[in-house]
Amino acid sequence: MYQYNKQDQTLIEERVSEFRGQTQRFLNGELGADQFRALRLMNGLYVQTHAPMLRVAVPYGLLSSKQLRKLASVSRDYDRGYCHFTTRQNVQYNWPALERVPDLLAELATVQMHSIQTSGNCLRNTTSDHLAGICKDEIEDPRPYCEIIRQWTTLHPEFAYLPRKFKIAVSGAGHDRAAVQFHDIGVYLTKNDSGEVGFRILAGGGLGRTPIIGQTVRPFLKKQDLLSYLEAIVRVYNLFGRRDNKYKARIKILVKETGLEKFTAMIEAEWQRIRDEMVLSSERIEEIKAQFAPPAYDPTAGNDDSFGAHLADNAAFAKWIKYNTVDHKVSGYRGAYVSLKAPDSPPGDITAEQLEAVADLADQYSFGEIRSTHRQNLVLADVKQTDLFSVWQQLDAIKLATPNIGTVTDMICCPGLDFCSLANASSIGVAKKINEALDDLDYIHDIGDIKINMSGCMNGCAHQSVGHIGILGVDKHGEEWYQITLGGSSENEAAIGERLGPSVAKDQITAVITTILDVYIQQRLEDEPFLQTVKRVGLEPFKERVYANH
Ligand code: HEM
Ligand code: SF4
Repeated sequence: MYQYNKQDQTLIEERVSEFRGQTQRFLNGELGADQFRALRLMNGLYVQTHAPMLRVAVPYGLLSSKQLRKLASVSRDYDRGYCHFTTRQNVQYNWPALERVPDLLAELATVQMHSIQTSGNCLRNTTSDHLAGICKDEIEDPRPYCEIIRQWTTLHPEFAYLPRKFKIAVSGAGHDRAAVQFHDIGVYLTKNDSGEVGFRILAGGGLGRTPIIGQTVRPFLKKQDLLSYLEAIVRVYNLFGRRDNKYKARIKILVKETGLEKFTAMIEAEWQRIRDEMVLSSERIEEIKAQFAPPAYDPTAGNDDSFGAHLADNAAFAKWIKYNTVDHKVSGYRGAYVSLKAPDSPPGDITAEQLEAVADLADQYSFGEIRSTHRQNLVLADVKQTDLFSVWQQLDAIKLATPNIGTVTDMICCPGLDFCSLANASSIGVAKKINEALDDLDYIHDIGDIKINMSGCMNGCAHQSVGHIGILGVDKHGEEWYQITLGGSSENEAAIGERLGPSVAKDQITAVITTILDVYIQQRLEDEPFLQTVKRVGLEPFKERVYANH
């Protein structure tokens, strides 16, 4: 895991003391709400319906057990005993008192955590594949490049006030688990014809009101040119991105309005001017890579019988292994998901006690490391097969072993009316109702890989437009209604979901979702996943049943 240096620590501490002064001046009435707004947004602090919300950065989703314990104690001491993992691998506190936020930040700074650049119109946290470094289909571990990008973006003087927020994701695997194509800049590690590893660079992807799939601006970029090329893209965006209309300000609109060819030519021209000044040396890359060296795996881990015996004897354990663990490139190890999607808890939420228990599990069984995922779960990445039974028992005891990863109840959901002042819909409540209606695990497992994403308004924070089933809260004459889309995906075959038809009332939403699942079961060919069935049969059969019944 990357070790921050003294410079990073000083920077974080200085920022805390600066923010302490700003908060004090606001509370004393020396700063107005507008003046303070700009300052608090530089420190991840939003104002929501009930209280401020603080978003804490988790660089590329990697956490140490020490950091997890700090998140736990902070949630207990400054919040209501829980926190929330987001789709961009970050952590949010929903209830901190404004006057205590500087102390909260000082606590986080003791474990090198902060909330700089987690809100506002700046370069945000770079996200990545939560199975980086352990999955079998990886060209190269993306985390060293995420770290290089983190260092480049942190307090980059030229990009502190962009037209709008700017998000980057990097993936090194064949399977995209990081929604790379829906980022302002997407980076895929790739090989060229001569086998050299470099990057394919995409730009102009994004979600929100106008979801757009990113387009390739450079099919192959040499490693040494990573930062100069990213700098060129962000410079072009900073100069030409629209500042007159917040809804047209993201790079996706610039790419769309300029046209890919012209946009690419603009980047290339800027890049030619700066590329020689910003060469990333192979020594620097190696230096960073060394901090992501594999842990000391046990070469004898594969030699055990107990795992097979437990699998044969215990159906619940076998189910958990099937759904909540993944293959590891090292024999005798698996990656184990910690499901934050228990039926009775809001998606992505975790209590202080659970955080501490997961930190203990990480120390005991997974080299003291935890990862957060785009779909709002956690991962213990390096668990020995022999230890999985104990890990499962301990997770089960604290309600973190629901065997539902990648299934219909592994929903992504935004805070909605419970916390957000912009919401039309109580997304968390609706997610709970859907969960209750789908509480039969055998049924959930039978219907397989279906991703439901739900947002409480058209800002689309929870990526509903790329859910296999998307649910969007809309306001109809002061009442909560829901618009359904089908066929979206944020993975390799990226697609934006198509609207099923008119929106449906809140009391019908659960019946609509179960009807959609019924139609799928009727229509699917043997073992055909939901997305493929939707592609093959189109929306008609779903429409017919949904609107006939409701
Ligand atoms: C107080 C109000 C809001 C809350 C509580 C909220 C909450 C969230 C959360 C939890 C995420 C995931 C963030 C992360 O992981 O870093 C997110 C992302 C996002 N938010 Fe919000 N949000 C709010 C306001 C807005 C507004 C006003 C907009 C647009 C005008 C917006 C647009 C988005 C979009 C588009 C994403 C993710 C997708 C993307 O980056 O393209 N949000 N929001
Ligand atoms: S999608 Fe809308 S309701 Fe949900 S968090 Fe974003 S702004 Fe709020």
